[in-house]
Amino acid sequence: DIDVSGLVDSRNGLVDRSIFTDRRLYDQEQARVFATSWLFLGHVDQLQKAGDFFTTYMGEDPVIVTKDKSGRIRAFLNSCRHRGARVLRADYGTTRAFTCTYHGWSYDLEGKLISVPNEDGYPAESWDRSEWGLQEVAQLDTVLGLIFATWNPKAIPLDEQLGDMKYYMEAFLDRDSEGTTVVGGITKWVLKGNWKLAAEQFGTDWYHVNMSHASALMVLSPTGKGPKAEIANTPGRQFSDEHGNGTGFPTHPKSRFDALPVHQHYDYQALTERLGEARVHGPLTTGHATVFPNFSYLPVNGSIRVWHPKGPDEMEVWTWTVLDKSMSEEVRTAQRLYNLRTFGPSGIFEQDDGENWSEIQAISHGWRTNTIPLNYQMGMGSETDDGVYPGSTSALYSDAAGRRFYGRWAELMNTPAWHEEEQSR
Ligand code: FES
Repeated sequence: DIDVSGLVDSRNGLVDRSIFTDRRLYDQEQARVFATSWLFLGHVDQLQKAGDFFTTYMGEDPVIVTKDKSGRIRAFLNSCRHRGARVLRADYGTTRAFTCTYHGWSYDLEGKLISVPNEDGYPAESWDRSEWGLQEVAQLDTVLGLIFATWNPKAIPLDEQLGDMKYYMEAFLDRDSEGTTVVGGITKWVLKGNWKLAAEQFGTDWYHVNMSHASALMVLSPTGKGPKAEIANTPGRQFSDEHGNGTGFPTHPKSRFDALPVHQHYDYQALTERLGEARVHGPLTTGHATVFPNFSYLPVNGSIRVWHPKGPDEMEVWTWTVLDKSMSEEVRTAQRLYNLRTFGPSGIFEQDDGENWSEIQAISHGWRTNTIPLNYQMGMGSETDDGVYPGSTSALYSDAAGRRFYGRWAELMNTPAWHEEEQSR
């Protein structure tokens, strides 16, 4: 139980680098941040009918997400109750039961243990098969086509956890009444770097855009003059809340970098009537966002992603392309390719970001680097209710959401989790 009060000073915008490198803090993070928070699992369209499933992770825990016979979405720990083998090794598919490949224990879509080879070998007086079903998450819910779950039976409802953040998410995921879908499968890659470096940047960091992505912006610039003309010092807002959620977006009409067929697809008058002018000019455009702790998205690219922790020094990045169901095939293709070119594993922006995070991680284990605090002071004290965007917002160029991301992280790290309270009883 490490007290992290001295490592994160969100009031003064200071963060100790050991939170990215220390194995003990990483283990505590699994037990207190990932075990207690709502975590992103996937998109509802990945499960069409009973028996469809996909596998993913909640923190480092592997999980099966499936649709049971009644059509309910459920998530189970992907670990057999016998010797702990992974019950499902496939990324996705359709099945009538989950059968472990080690000794053949079999579970139904509701997680019940339904078949045990050589079952008469178990002592009749004490063996109760119903006690050995798959471990199910405590709560699962969907919002705007996204599936989230938590191990925490006491977690506040997902809608409450999102609060005002949902207003910003709707600008991306509720553009028409047909809703969204995902195309092109899930793109996955491994990156050296602590998962928080990525989650933090997507929540708070517009600041890096002009420098880190200068070359990429030149390529995409409508005038060919690059970032200075279209994007430098652009006005915008950054939202943050006490749950650690954050999003930033420019509010300048020329800051758009949509794929042209996607831009032409939209009826901006209808969007304005549905979402309001403030959302169409702001969070619908070239923004960035993180839902605490490790789900992020980019509205203009149609990119949603999760940063899976794989030890303090490594993450796995999983990304999807999200589209409005109403888009034609041609527009869908344009958006998918645009997302891959910009934020796929070899995308012109993704490459810049990944290199920054890996570079930071590579030098963070030195004694000297690890003992000098990092600066998160930009825009300190500028947070306000601006009367236009809900919740607390600051200037676009700000670390406000970063301070609150680490503030929330530290709060959870310093609070015994629900399972620790259960153990101490
Ligand atoms: Fe699954 Fe033995 S580990 S049946």
